[in-house]
Amino acid sequence: MLKKIIDWIDERVQIIEVIENHLTGHMVPANLNLWYSMGSVLLAMLFIQFITGILLLIYYVPDVDKAFESVTYITNEVPFGWLIRRVHAMATNIFIAVLFLHMFSTLFMGSYKKPRELQWMSGSVLFGLGFLAALSGYLLPWSQLSYWATTVATNTVGAVPFIGDELVRGLRGAERVEQATLSRFFALHVIVVPLLFLGLVAAHLFFMRRTGISSPPGTMKEEVEKIPFVPHFALEDLKVIYFFLGILFIFVFFYPKLYFPPDALSPADPFFTPPHIKPEWYFLANYEMLKLIPNKFLGVFIQLAVALFLFFLPLIDVGSERHPLKRPIFLTIAILGVLAFIALTVLGEIL
Ligand code: HEM
Repeated sequence: MLKKIIDWIDERVQIIEVIENHLTGHMVPANLNLWYSMGSVLLAMLFIQFITGILLLIYYVPDVDKAFESVTYITNEVPFGWLIRRVHAMATNIFIAVLFLHMFSTLFMGSYKKPRELQWMSGSVLFGLGFLAALSGYLLPWSQLSYWATTVATNTVGAVPFIGDELVRGLRGAERVEQATLSRFFALHVIVVPLLFLGLVAAHLFFMRRTGISSPPGTMKEEVEKIPFVPHFALEDLKVIYFFLGILFIFVFFYPKLYFPPDALSPADPFFTPPHIKPEWYFLANYEMLKLIPNKFLGVFIQLAVALFLFFLPLIDVGSERHPLKRPIFLTIAILGVLAFIALTVLGEIL
């Protein structure tokens, strides 16, 4: 039956040729390591976010008087609503963590170098988009936690020189976080960000297919044995995807309080600031840096400079050597950068 359907389609649009060109006949280096599966894990997480997000949208109401009630209804009344909501919230954290892993691994393996500059640059924008998705979604439940964490997070934008206050007002749509903020974060989260994701991921994968995937540093692509992408490498990808799904479900079933602490269980109250409100873990490094550097101007300047430096890295670091151990200056800067990021995150958590 399936064969008949495929033959029917093939007769019209030669689908078998497409499958052979892009899947079974698409050859990749046989010595690809685990890190090369991170992109597929990100695709899997994005897929989960799209499906669970659409399901949540069926009951969610983007109105300050009804938002909290609607997510409580999803959690307590809708069949499996609690599961869908927990998966959506936890998968965001896994997605951001894997974004870091994917970025750091392509950084250390020198995958951003010629001819993959465009892939790195499109990836950098996807990185920023991941954060925008997380920030905009966080406010939607309109709980004490989401309200105040968004107030703190949007406040940090105020440190931008000259136009900081305008930016905060533009982001919030008002002086403080209120209905205008919820409406624009909702539009961002359910339309703008997903559309940008689709377009940019398509571009990212297009670049990957045009340049071909790199072989790990230290091996010459021409000398490496090749295996078909489907089924051989796709099964390797699947193993790593299952591993991260395992982590996701451990958190979903056994540690839900990590993501839903008590402040997430009461509706937003603009007149009561809970003690110890902090942004999510992935914003802590930026937050802590702005707190530690007394001159706000300098704090924001350093962050913008780091972001621009990372975006343009393939145009700055143009040497052809990809092996990290043969690039001591790069390795020192990269390790110091990662350590600084971890230290700031830990400080943000404990201070
Ligand atoms: C939604 C986010 C993203 C998705 C879905 C995604 C997907 C992928 C996929 C499927 C691959 C091929 C397999 C692999 O090497 O993992 C890949 C490769 C790559 N990605 Fe991403 N990516 C994302 C974000 C990023 C980010 C944030 C960066 C870095 C700033 C980045 C830079 C690269 C580079 C340089 C490669 C080439 C690897 C090579 O051929 O050695 N990507 N990406």
